[in-house]
This record gives sequence, structure tokens and C-alpha cells, in this order.
Amino acid sequence: MEIEKLKKEIDLWLVNYFKDKKGFNEIIYKSMLYSLEVGGKRIRPILTLLAYSLYKENYKEVLPCACAIEMIHTYSLIHDDLPSMDNDSLRRGKPTNHMVFGEALALLAGDALLNEAFNIMIHEALSKGETWIKAADIIGKASGANGMIGGQVVDIMSTNKVASEEEIFYMHSKKTGELIKGAILSGAVLGGAEERDLDILREFGEKLGLAFQIKDDILDIVGDTTTLGKTVNKDSDQNKSTFIKLYGLEKCKDLSNKLTNECLELLNSIKRNTDDLKSLTLFLLKREH
Ligand code: IPE
Ligand code: IPE
Ligand code: MG
Ligand code: MG
Ligand code: MG
Repeated sequence: MEIEKLKKEIDLWLVNYFKDKKGFNEIIYKSMLYSLEVGGKRIRPILTLLAYSLYKENYKEVLPCACAIEMIHTYSLIHDDLPSMDNDSLRRGKPTNHMVFGEALALLAGDALLNEAFNIMIHEALSKGETWIKAADIIGKASGANGMIGGQVVDIMSTNKVASEEEIFYMHSKKTGELIKGAILSGAVLGGAEERDLDILREFGEKLGLAFQIKDDILDIVGDTTTLGKTVNKDSDQNKSTFIKLYGLEKCKDLSNKLTNECLELLNSIKRNTDDLKSLTLFLLKREH
């Protein structure tokens, strides 16, 4: 399957979803769409479509779930960039949401994207049944206080402090790993994956999520602002606890290589065609943005 084609379908679905919304609240849709529209890699929704495609062919069926996850991710970025959090002015190559719409609307756009994601999941569940409830359950837990938000809490609490190795692993696994793992598992559940595969994909998602955030920390040091679409050296400027601070650059590169190889091994143990998931895993290791 062509990953670029999937990305285009996701982009189109998202834009169509908010198209032509009118009314006194129109600005909120503009603000939501502004952050959603371009520039994101769409890794999480692509993972949902690829995990589903291990088991079923008609991946368009699960575009709503994939895009709901991208909405949650985009909300997390809008809030992550707020002055009270990471105070960033550049995201996906454009000024951050609060720079354009102001802080109040940026907060509301994030809230609205989160709600919309679950509106979509519930709407689909009403006609398609229980597997969609199961997928919503996975996504809800992945993004909640013991999931992505839990990681963001530790990120904020450990800023300007020396965090332990254990805390940094927790933070990275939760703030980034949970939604990546949730994206994979929800796709697999919708596709009807058996328990054995779900166990393997859970481990795959954990390792991929961790590798992804380590790479994010590496790119903050070695990346280029234009390619990355966000300001570099933010983590050290803000005295964030990161893997780089814990291990240094070289060990972080080794660790992301090691985790990537473990991801590939896990995919080998699934008796399905995992070629696309393997290509994506390798792309994530080598990415420059
Ligand atoms: C950035 O995520 C924030 C993290 C969780 C590390 P991505 O690197 O997936 O950002 P986009 O969606 O491509 O902009
Ligand atoms: C963000 O981590 C994680 C979430 C948004 C949940 P970072 O703060 O490292 O992400 P960037 O570097 O701003 O994209
Ligand atoms: Mg952050
Ligand atoms: Mg940030
Ligand atoms: Mg970062």
C-alpha cells in the first residue's frame, strides 16, 4: 500500500469534515482546521490504517477512527505549544495556533478537537457496533490521565529538575507512546485481530512510541527548523528532561536503532504481510522531521 496515498486520504477526510461550517462559532472551526490542515506527518492515522489492513482490505471503513486519533494528537500539540506549557511559536511550519487565534481560542480549539474525536467514534459505533466501542475505549485510555496526559504532566513537573531514568521512560512512553500504541491497537481491533497478534502489536507500539520520542528529542538537537517545522533547541533552552540529557546524543541514536530493530523482529512474528508497517518503522527512524 502506498503510504503517501493514505496520507492524502487522511488529509482530505479531515478537511471535508470541517468544511462549510457556519454560524456565530465559525471561528472555532477555522482554528481547528488551521492546526489540522497541513504539515503533519499523519503517522498515527497511517498506523491505524496499516494495522487494520493486516486483517481486512477495505481500510476506508476505518478512516473515521484514524482521523479521530489525528484530531486528538493535533489537540495535544495545540495545548503543548501554549505559553503555559512549551511556549512555542512554530508548529508544522506555521505560527502556532495561539499566535494566530489567541490563547483562549487555542484552548477551545484543542478542547473541541478532543470532543469531536469521541463524537466521531460514538457516531460510528451507533451503526457499526461493539468493535468501535472497543476502539474508542483504547483511544480514551491512551489519551487520558494515565496515558498521554500523564506523560505531559511528568514533562511539566520535571522541567528545571533532574528527572530519574525511570521518570523519563514513563514520560516518553506516556506522552508519545500511548497514542501511537493506541493508534495501532484500535486499527487492529477494528480489523478483528486475534489476541496473540494484539499482544505482539502492543509491544510493537510501546517500542515504536518510545523510539519515536527519542528521535523527537534527537531532532530537537540535530534538526533544522525549516525542515522540522518547529523551533530547534527548545528542550535545552527550556531545561526539559529528555533522553538526550539522560544519555547524550550517541547513546540515544543507539537506543533508537535498537528499538527499531526490536520493532522489526516483532513484526516478523506476525503471520501477516507486515511490509508496510516495516517501511513505516524504518522511515520513522530515518526521518528528518
Ligand atoms: C510531535 O509529533 C509531538 C510528539 C508527540 C513527539 P509528530 O512528530 O507526529 O508531529 P506531526 O503530527 O508530524 O506534526
Ligand atoms: C509533545 O512532546 C508530546 C505531546 C504533544 C503529547 P514535545 O513537547 O517534545 O513535542 P514537540 O517537540 O513540541 O513537538
Ligand atoms: Mg512538550
Ligand atoms: Mg513541545
Ligand atoms: Mg520535542
